[in-house]
Amino acid sequence: MQNQDISVKEIDETRQGEALEMVAKGGSGKKLYIESYGCAMNFSDSEIVASVLIDEGFETTKVMEEADVIFVNTCAIRDNAEQRVRGRLDQFRKVKKSKPDMVIGVMGCMAERLKSKLLEEEKLVDIVVGPDSYRDLPNLVRVAESGQKAVNVLLSREETYADINPVRLGGNGVSAFVSITRGCDNMCSFCVVPFTRGRERSRDPESIVAECTQLLANGYKEVTLLGQNVDSYLWGGGGLKKDIIARGDLTGTVSFAELLIMVAKISPELRVRFSTSHPKDMHDDVLYAMAEYHNICSYIHLPVQSGSTRLLELMNRGYSREWYFERMAKIKEIVPNCGLSTDIITGFCTETEEDHQDTLSLMQEVGFDFAYMFKYSERPGTAAAKKMEDDIPEEIKQRRLAEVIEIQAKNSHESNKKDLGKTFEVLVEGTSKKSEEMLQGRNPQNKVIVFPKENFKKGDYVNVLVTDCTSATLLGTAVK
Ligand code: 5AD
Ligand code: SF4
Repeated sequence: MQNQDISVKEIDETRQGEALEMVAKGGSGKKLYIESYGCAMNFSDSEIVASVLIDEGFETTKVMEEADVIFVNTCAIRDNAEQRVRGRLDQFRKVKKSKPDMVIGVMGCMAERLKSKLLEEEKLVDIVVGPDSYRDLPNLVRVAESGQKAVNVLLSREETYADINPVRLGGNGVSAFVSITRGCDNMCSFCVVPFTRGRERSRDPESIVAECTQLLANGYKEVTLLGQNVDSYLWGGGGLKKDIIARGDLTGTVSFAELLIMVAKISPELRVRFSTSHPKDMHDDVLYAMAEYHNICSYIHLPVQSGSTRLLELMNRGYSREWYFERMAKIKEIVPNCGLSTDIITGFCTETEEDHQDTLSLMQEVGFDFAYMFKYSERPGTAAAKKMEDDIPEEIKQRRLAEVIEIQAKNSHESNKKDLGKTFEVLVEGTSKKSEEMLQGRNPQNKVIVFPKENFKKGDYVNVLVTDCTSATLLGTAVK
């Protein structure tokens, strides 16, 4: 089977890779074109970059050929994510041949991972900028325009871009991402993120509440609080999480559950979501907050990665299969009807058939509504790359992935069938892709529901009775 490591997340990444138009403000007249790949955090970072450059007077364009400056915000999490970016860089290069003054910049995780090596490998790239250096972009662009190569890949202990007002790009005007932490201290052995995004630091809760309040005032109805590990959010006046913990006194700090409540209290009209949770850090206080506040959506994305305790140890995940089951049981107890999704990696180093069966049985037992599924991709510099052999043959990784996908397809369909006859509050995001006569939105559990338009519009909350489903979508009709 050809490249089956294209799960829904990958499709999402591709969608996010669509050209993002920036709103023009001011006047150098220079045109900027930006593309974003990877996770929601990258998408959110592009909105910060847009803000920084628009303040410098850039105008934006959807047409790559018109641009004076092109930026691509990159992902390094798996090799295929990097290959996709390299493919795009080839296309940018062709455009630059006919427009030699054009500046091409690479930002994000691939920039941080490869640093100035990227300039050698991709000769026509002019700027390489890591995730903590976006304030330096105006300067880097000037250097590049003077004909020199510009690089800033310094990682920061403090940077959270808390004071930058992101320019909302390419969204639906209803739902926005708000970043609450940067970096990651977990060091999962397979993962490159701690190296590309640095140490974990949390953003000032007041700036988060202010951003969400402004979004509501601008007509948004839903915020998704973003972090590599949101449960680990801890505000203690700034600085690295590890330094706050080392102080030994948590008086006056703000935890993730407390932050969630602060955001939920802004208005019952504003839905609150969050991503990504971590099984080792997801404590009951978050679940009680979800149970108490109607506008905190009943949905948790809790990546398990593997169902085998032996593999979880090798992955340095900090929990066992049993711990994960216990967390699932608690979610179901405290937040009944909670939507659940996960991430799974097949073919990690030394994975036996028995380990793989453990993953399949865990999936069967939990019955996730949704999953993002990947083949293991060795990332240079990670603990797994240094200490373990990537010893599972490609065809076995592929076959195991196919088996995982098959179980998930059944689980998703089963989960949707269970919703038949139920009524959900749906936040309308826009017209359905298939018909102008239909609207689509999400229920709190994060499932997409399509229903006839009637007189409803984007941004409305509508109670919808589910009457039919496919494995991917629920179909229904509005009820009074
Ligand atoms: N190979 C495959 N998948 C990976 N992920 C992270 N690193 C790798 C890797 N090296 C997956 C994990 C994580 C998701 C964002 O990407 O499942 O939760
Ligand atoms: Fe990577 Fe683990 Fe951090 Fe997630 S929690 S970003 S998988 S190191």
